[in-house]
Amino acid sequence: MDHNKLALPVGTTLDRFIMRKQEDFPYATGELSQLLRDIALAAKIVNREINRSGLIDIAGAYGSQNVQGEDQQKLDVIANIRFIRALRNGGEVCTIISEEDDEMIQTGNNQGKYVVAIDPLDGSSNIDVNVSIGTIFSIYRRVSPTGREGTAADCLQPGTHQVAAGYVIYGSSTMLVYTTGNGVNGFTYEHSLGEFFLSHPDIITPKTGAIYSINEGSSDSFSPGVAAFVQYCKDQQFSARYIGSLVADFHRNLLKGGIYVYPATAKNKSGKLRLMYECNPLAFIVEQAGGKSSNGTRRTMEIEPQIPHERCPFFIGSKELVEKAESFIANDKEACDHKPAPEPTPKKATTVK
Ligand code: AHG
Ligand code: MN
Ligand code: MN
Repeated sequence: MDHNKLALPVGTTLDRFIMRKQEDFPYATGELSQLLRDIALAAKIVNREINRSGLIDIAGAYGSQNVQGEDQQKLDVIANIRFIRALRNGGEVCTIISEEDDEMIQTGNNQGKYVVAIDPLDGSSNIDVNVSIGTIFSIYRRVSPTGREGTAADCLQPGTHQVAAGYVIYGSSTMLVYTTGNGVNGFTYEHSLGEFFLSHPDIITPKTGAIYSINEGSSDSFSPGVAAFVQYCKDQQFSARYIGSLVADFHRNLLKGGIYVYPATAKNKSGKLRLMYECNPLAFIVEQAGGKSSNGTRRTMEIEPQIPHERCPFFIGSKELVEKAESFIANDKEACDHKPAPEPTPKKATTVK
């Protein structure tokens, strides 16, 4: 009898995986590895809080609004505290941008080489109804010298400068998916052992797909290009799938192929999603997985951010579908550019009696 068959290996833990990856870079100091471990630790704690949210008084609204005028849920606030505390205690991060905080957060770690942008809990409307929610994070190397607080220039770098990005999905299982620019790997949380294990190595997203994810409740205010693209998806008999938690919609489409769209609407004239802690991190991941991300006309990661909570239209997913959406938008723009100027309205003739 093969004794090994009695006890199958449990696999590679996230910690070991991070350590191995670090060994690929002979001059790496281990600070980024430590930072990723800090985020994973906070994710485990947030996962615990989410799992018991129906049992203790942490469900529901907190009674305040964040800087973007959105009602904060208690779990938004709890997750924010957990991640900030983990990053502060870890010591590698000098400054944080969080969806839940108006201003940049100075951690006091002025020697820290990194800045983090984070959506501590994504999918607020789903927190209390047992539907998947998530955390999204993006990591940059600071550009200002160490020894003092991080600056706006450290925080407002384009997505192409990200050194790592990831998300956690608290779903039917809890997963952490991240990239450091060398492919995308996914880890599933094993509750009884309290560890993330490598479950989705080297994720590649399908080139195309048959899922489109958009909130069609706002279709009245879609631009003609976006409306035409949605019609194209219907003509192709794609499946409409929209959870309302960006992380969950993105994760599904990443694995199955498809496109997620949050366009400009009458209510959200620049789109709803935030460039620094929603769009850019997912754009980095999707590109590393072979997909594409755009604001409809431009690669998401090349947008030069102006303010921490900047929003942008978002088209992300399978490369062919994002390119298709872009072509509908370009045609619409062309049609507008070539529209003849409207005839001047004829002046009413004055009747002279
Ligand atoms: P958050 O909970 O972090 O504020 O993000 C909510 C976002 C995103 O998760 C989701 O895709 C989108 O809002 C849904 O917006 P609509 O309800 O307008 O479709
Ligand atoms: Mn969000
Ligand atoms: Mn959020």
